[in-house]
Amino acid sequence: MAQEERMLIVGGERLEGTVRVSGGKNTSVAIIPATILSSTPCVIENLPNIEDVHVSVETLRYLGARVDWDPAEGLMQVDASSINRTDVPLDLCRRMRASSYYIGALLARFGRAQVPLPGGCDIGRRPIDQHIKGMRALGARVDTQRGTVIAEADPLVGADVFLDMATVGGTINVMLAASRAQGTTTIYNAAKEPHIVDLANFLNSMGCRVKGAGTDVIRVRGTQTLASRRPYAVIPDQIETGTLMIAAAATHGDVTITGCIPTHMEALTAKLLEMGAKVYEHDDSIRVRSLGAHRGVTFKTQVYPGFPTDLQQPMSALLCTATGTSTVVENIFESRFRHLAEMERMGARVRIFEQTAVIEGVPMLHGAAVEATDLRAGAALVVAGLMAQGTTEIYNTHFIDRGYENLEQKFASLGARISRVRE
Ligand code: EPU
Repeated sequence: MAQEERMLIVGGERLEGTVRVSGGKNTSVAIIPATILSSTPCVIENLPNIEDVHVSVETLRYLGARVDWDPAEGLMQVDASSINRTDVPLDLCRRMRASSYYIGALLARFGRAQVPLPGGCDIGRRPIDQHIKGMRALGARVDTQRGTVIAEADPLVGADVFLDMATVGGTINVMLAASRAQGTTTIYNAAKEPHIVDLANFLNSMGCRVKGAGTDVIRVRGTQTLASRRPYAVIPDQIETGTLMIAAAATHGDVTITGCIPTHMEALTAKLLEMGAKVYEHDDSIRVRSLGAHRGVTFKTQVYPGFPTDLQQPMSALLCTATGTSTVVENIFESRFRHLAEMERMGARVRIFEQTAVIEGVPMLHGAAVEATDLRAGAALVVAGLMAQGTTEIYNTHFIDRGYENLEQKFASLGARISRVRE
């Protein structure tokens, strides 16, 4: 029988010290497929050593690209000139949501792509109709047969694309497809997340002309030949930064997070201040310090620069011990409160009404055996375990490994009693 891995946390330790944040997951999984667009080898730096990056490497190698990947250094060299196929297999797509980006990248480079519908975390319905709508607007013929997207174009031609909602993945996929199209594509109601800006900077570094990334109208002037000219370093992970900030507050600790971009954290910083924690922002570091009890707060998840859905789970875990009643509204995904049901085993008091969670703060959580149901649910349970009295066992740790590099080593370096067991 396969051995089941668990994370063990003996809670109650105050986190103290300095920790460096890794490169961004959601930017890495967009920039890696974008290397397909380059006619010269690309060097990417600051990539996190996480499962989603490993799946991305496997995908590029399956396509025939030559990839040198040094996980310890976060350094990857990709030579896409040897790519000799345009299909991605189901077993890779099942393991990662961002596998849909291979549709846009392969279509832009080779005029065809065959990619099964993506997997990823089970946090609600995650259709890709807007991605497909955008590619059709650019002249692609897109068909879904037996769960696989088959797209062809000869050639792609720039067009106006109006997204029905500011979808992160849809914006990225249309940017990828538009990068080598004839003429200009304008994406209206585009997502504004930091990784959209990072992808635009990477495309521009290869000679593409992307303007407006970070606003809700993005213009991409397609360029037939894109060529990488210099190494490109991905931006730090906004969500890992936030998870570390929340954990610092949760343990009434004093933690400095280095190598981050404080302006990406404003929505979280504002809520932590409202709860009574202290947050000090510097150029590329943030210090979170918390001494007394936290006040309960209300927040709603929104597209950037609103409160990110990916931090809703760790933040709502923290609110389980805040004084009074907190209300959390999840506006992006319909099934992102499953960590709270798990936390009821730890003594949390929560009522869920559709997209709203009402949390009655309790003075103390107690350790229990709990199950991560997705990546950020796993992060939320780690925060809960760090706060709780006694030992918390977290099952399904593979979810956490999809998106956090060396999470337990980082927390251990700050004084947490955290380890992984397999028995
Ligand atoms: N949507 C549609 N149709 C589409 C695309 C999206 O209806 O064609 C809906 C979704 O169902 C959802 C909303 O639009 O309700 C927003 O989805 P979005 O496309 O923005 O999300 P995504 O691209 O699937 C990325 C991140 C998620 C993060 C969301 C929101 C990556 C690889 N994933 O997902 O990250 O939660 O944006 O910010 O970038 C995570 O890191 O744990 C994670 C889930």
